[in-house]
Parts: sequence; structure tokens; C-alpha cells
Amino acid sequence: MSKIAVIYCSKTGFSARYARWVARDLHADLYRYKTVDTALLAPYQVIIYGAGFYAGKLKGARWFMRTVRPLSSAHIIVFATGSMPHVHPRDLQREWDMSFRRSEQEQIHLFYLPGGMNYTRLSLPSQFLMHLYRFYMLHSPKTRSDTRKLMRRLNHSVDYTDRKAIKPILTEAQKKRTPV
Ligand SMILES: Cc1cc2nc3c(=O)[nH]c(=O)nc-3n(C[C@H](O)[C@H](O)[C@H](O)COP(=O)(O)O)c2cc1C
Repeated sequence: MSKIAVIYCSKTGFSARYARWVARDLHADLYRYKTVDTALLAPYQVIIYGAGFYAGKLKGARWFMRTVRPLSSAHIIVFATGSMPHVHPRDLQREWDMSFRRSEQEQIHLFYLPGGMNYTRLSLPSQFLMHLYRFYMLHSPKTRSDTRKLMRRLNHSVDYTDRKAIKPILTEAQKKRTPV
């Protein structure tokens, strides 16, 4: 069995919920963002990182890449949660490009998981930022019409989390087998 670490950074609980599900199903060790360093992660063959997208970027992406860059033989998996049940591949690629260099994207396995919006757990400044982001998305000519429709629903809290959505991540993590 591979030794697996799941690390998460979660402001309002969506990525944390997925991280717990993934860790439970893979019998992995679960850590919070910034409680680990390169030395602690060195014995792991599979390292999974999950966080939310904030203003088009994965939270903690730079910290995570700095931490795992020296661990060249580890199988690296990243999942993002966002406010949409699904994202058009072109829009998703834009968010990955804001978070990781193309050369990094070639070395890691990226997944999007449906998160939601939990206003009750957001600070007032974050609520304000979300309203700005929503306003921008609703009025930008670049926003696709299906995205605009989903954006309109974000005037209140929504939860799109789905336990079944982690399946591709479990499959990817199980591809790495320790040599016998
Ligand atoms: C200020 C702010 C900005 C956000 N920006 C985005 C975004 O760019 N793309 C997106 O899909 N979701 C965005 N969201 C929604 C979060 O990504 C979503 O709620 C996510 O599931 C939160 O995960 P967490 O609770 O684990 O931090 C934003 C939320 C807030 C509060």
C-alpha cells in the first residue's frame, strides 16, 4: 500500500469535507494547510492537496508547489472546489493557469469538485469580495450564459458537494503502487 497524505486549505468547509472523504477512503493521513513541510511529506508516495478557488486562483497553490517541488518521485494530485456544480473546461483551464505554471500542470493531476457557497462562514470582507466577484461575473461580456445563470443563484448559500465526485481522485491515487 502507498503511503498517502491529504492536505487541505478550507475557509468555509467545502474542501475540508472532500479532504476528509478522500482521506477516509484511501486510509490516508490528513493535514491542514501549512501544518506540514517538505521533510514531513518526504515519506509519502502520494500527496493530495485540496482547496477552494478564490478570485480565479487556487488558495495556497504557491505554498503547496514550493513544499512538494523537491519531492520529485511523489505522485501529486490537486483538487479545487468552487462555487459552481460544473465549470466549462476553458474557464477551468484559466483558473488552473492562474494557479500553476504550465510546466507544473504537466507534473500534477488536477481535478475540479463541486463546492458551493457558505455565506454564514465568511467574514464580512470576504462576503464583500464575493459580491464584487459575482457582480463582475454577471456583467462581464466574457461570462458564458450558463455560468451567468449559475452565478445568479449565488445570492444565497448553496451546497453542491457530492461524495461520489471524489471517485476519479481515488482512482488516480490508487494508480501509484509501491514496488514489491
Ligand atoms: C471572495 C471569494 C471569491 C471566490 N472566487 C471564486 C472563483 O474565482 N471561482 C470559483 O469557482 N469559486 C469562487 N469562490 C467560491 C469558493 O471557491 C467556494 O465556495 C469553495 O468551495 C470554497 O472552498 P472552501 O470552503 O474549502 O474554502 C469564491 C468565494 C469567495 C468568498
